[in-house]
Order: sequence, then structure tokens, then C-alpha cells
Amino acid sequence: MRFDILTLFPSMFEGPFHSSIIQRARSRGLIAIGIHNIRDYTTDRHHTADDYPYGGGAGMVMKPGPIFAAVEATLAEARASNPGLERSDVILLTPQGRLFRQSMAEELSRHQHLVLICGHYEGVDERVREHLVTDEISIGDYVLTGGEIPAMVIVDAVTRLVPGVLGSQESAFEESHASGLLEYPQYTRPPVFRGWAVPDVLLSGNHEAIARWRRQQALLRTLRRRPDLLLTSPPSLPDLILLTEVASPDELKAAGLQPAYPEAKRRRRRPAPPAPEGISENELPQ
Ligand code: ADE
Repeated sequence: MRFDILTLFPSMFEGPFHSSIIQRARSRGLIAIGIHNIRDYTTDRHHTADDYPYGGGAGMVMKPGPIFAAVEATLAEARASNPGLERSDVILLTPQGRLFRQSMAEELSRHQHLVLICGHYEGVDERVREHLVTDEISIGDYVLTGGEIPAMVIVDAVTRLVPGVLGSQESAFEESHASGLLEYPQYTRPPVFRGWAVPDVLLSGNHEAIARWRRQQALLRTLRRRPDLLLTSPPSLPDLILLTEVASPDELKAAGLQPAYPEAKRRRRRPAPPAPEGISENELPQ
């Protein structure tokens, strides 16, 4: 997977891609990252990359010419060095874009080539949006000084999902957001720290009980901190039963959920009684 980042501030990228998992992924050839200075694609003596907005107003606007030239050169270079390249996505980082979330990171991790344009100043000339980019992404409902940090966030979140980047120890599977739930609490040694003990179940060696406790804690944490996640993917009946054991009816109600008890599961398992003779199934009372 290849990332090309177009920026007016290439020095901002000197740290984050040179350590830890991203560095390891680069040196193993699982990802490649190119940093390109948009100013290198200006054509005037002063290397002007921004200009006053037509119609007046505060701030400066990034000029279309250098951005188009930088993207076109980057695409040509990527195709020349990889004739098998079938698709490149050109993404503008902007607070006006689609909100970045884990599902989007998963989708992007299946793409071959991402070109990330870091916007700055008051914005970029609208023709970049209309005629150059294939997508616009925001990393959150707040305004940063530019798209550089959002580009770093996207490279990081996408890279760790590229097959082979994480070892089994670091597996991306059982963690916050991958399953639609926040992660369960984790503990390591010592078993008692400053008088605070690790929950007994984690020391029990009972793998089934540990898995059940973790699921229950993940559900409870999600209910308390991010009930909106439970609205988009409501818990299954077994999960609701687990949650009912530890959450109050009010907490459940606030997230639009009803308590559920183990009897509900037994009831659901029992086969439906046969329809009385002469009544077809879709005539049965609901
Ligand atoms: N540029 C400035 N703020 C941003 C944000 N929240 N997301 C993406 N790009 C940005």
C-alpha cells in the first residue's frame, strides 16, 4: 500500500513515520510513504502557493495550480513505478469532509494508493474539490491549523490494518471500535497495586469465564461512555442478558434498551406452536 502526502509543511512529518509500527511496516515494504512539498510545484519566482480570496474576506486560499501539478506528478510517478497500479484515491483533508471512523479505515486499508492533500489557510480553491479529489475526509468536528495531523491519523489508522503489519500479539481484532464496542479493561502485574486488586476472574484461569467477563465489561463500558454505538448496532439477546446483569434499568433505558433475562433466551428457543388449521401463516396475529 502506498501513501503520498502533499503538504506545505513537509518537516511536520519528520517524526511520526520514523518510529514504532509505522517504521517497521515501511522497512518491511508493507507500506511506502512519500512526502511532497506543494511549494515545489509553484511556477512563480516567489513560490506562491496561496492567494487572496475572490470576493474578499479574511485569510488566504490555496491556489489550484500547484495542487493539481503536485497530484498529477505524484500519480504519474506512482504509475511509472508500479505498472500494476489500478486505482489511486485523491483525498482532501478538511473539516468539511466525511467523518473518519474505523469502518472507513478498514475500507481504505483495502485500497492500493492514497494521495492525501493537506489543506491550509482558509481553505483550498473550490476547483480542487470539484475536479481533482475523489473524497474529502474530516477526522473530527473541530478545526485544526491544517490537514497534516489528520493525514498522520489516517496513515496510522489505515497502516495497522494492512495485512502483516500487526503481529498476532498486537492483533487489531479484539479492540475498541473493531467490534463496534469499546475495549474491555486490561490489567497486568502486579495483582495488587497500591491496594487496588485485579478482578479475581482474570486470575482464575477459567477461559470461558474470562471471555464472558470481558464481553460484559466491553458492553457496559460502551453503554456508559458511547451509548450512540449501541444505537447503530443494537446488542444481541445474549449480550443484552449480559448487560442486564451489570447495568441499571435506567442506564439501559437511556440507551433505548429494555432489560433482558435468561428466560427470554429459553422462550425464544422454544419452537413456535403450530398454526391452527385453516389459517395460513401470514394471517396469524402479530
Ligand atoms: N483541517 C483542519 N481541521 C481538520 C479536521 N478536523 N479534519 C481534517 N482536516 C482538517
